[in-house]
Amino acid sequence: MRKVIIDCDTGIDDALALLLALRSPDLNVLGITCVNGNVTLDKVVINTLKVVDHSGKPAPVYAGVSAPLLPEKSENAPHIHGTDGLGDLSFPEPKSHVERENAIAFIIRILMDSDLPMDWISLGPLTNIALAIREEPKIISKVRLLTMMAGAVDFGNTRPMSEFNVFADPEAAKIVFDSDLPKMMVPLDPLWHGGQINRTEIEQIETAADKPWCDMAAKLIKQTIEMAEGSRRKYSMGEGAVAPPDLLTVAIAINPSIGQFENYQVFVETTGEYTRGMTVIDRRWNRNYSENTNRNQMAVCLSADQKKYSELILRTLLS
Ligand code: BDR
Ligand code: CA
Repeated sequence: MRKVIIDCDTGIDDALALLLALRSPDLNVLGITCVNGNVTLDKVVINTLKVVDHSGKPAPVYAGVSAPLLPEKSENAPHIHGTDGLGDLSFPEPKSHVERENAIAFIIRILMDSDLPMDWISLGPLTNIALAIREEPKIISKVRLLTMMAGAVDFGNTRPMSEFNVFADPEAAKIVFDSDLPKMMVPLDPLWHGGQINRTEIEQIETAADKPWCDMAAKLIKQTIEMAEGSRRKYSMGEGAVAPPDLLTVAIAINPSIGQFENYQVFVETTGEYTRGMTVIDRRWNRNYSENTNRNQMAVCLSADQKKYSELILRTLLS
């Protein structure tokens, strides 16, 4: 089991991703840290506790930062994730409680105490991550790989070229992208190229609703389908299919062979008139993943193996 910490802004797809991570026999989730993002921090914390309750696997939850590095630019996404951030589906109030320790303090403590470099997954704006490496840069050598749901190659979802997690705090994203952390980026692009779950897989999750984590996942997926019907963009998916970004990211963190990668230098735009929050990817040159040495050099996922992805989801959630 690989030890991992997960940072998230629990909206609908974060919830699906957390259920997968917590149920995975390959991951030992040492802690979940919350950040302002899809909804405000207080709601993110409540949502995360609800997910942990449904997962049947206890994991400590920590509250992190309640605003981006430039607080006046804060934007949430209740129009995508519902007023409560979990699709307004009235999941029961959580039984578990948030930890007293602050998320940044937890991140630094758990990484510094670790003998071996650990995995780190980020599913929200990169504010907690940026503040943690700024406060204690020594944690960088304690990270095996940071797998980030962040950015876009072809086009964004929040602005023409900007993906939500980077757009919501570009200053924090820039600190992380420019750092020496070993990084893997799962942008929006693989969602349109293999990173979806289809109707047949969704039906199998629905029929396993006696398991509380499948019940929650099925309800969240149903909500996602309803929203996705109205928001099809350049690429269309099969009828009733969904492509939750954070779910694919955790699946790739569990099994990297689900993704196909190219190595690029990636820079975060913070000042562009039309491009604030854009991930600028230098596609003039690419390098092998093994040559991942430069600060902005990272593995960028461009497509996913749909069969392997759905097999992992079903194997993990149904067993
Ligand atoms: C990302 O933004 C959020 O709305 C989702 O939870 C995901 O992490 C996709 O752009
Ligand atoms: Ca998220």
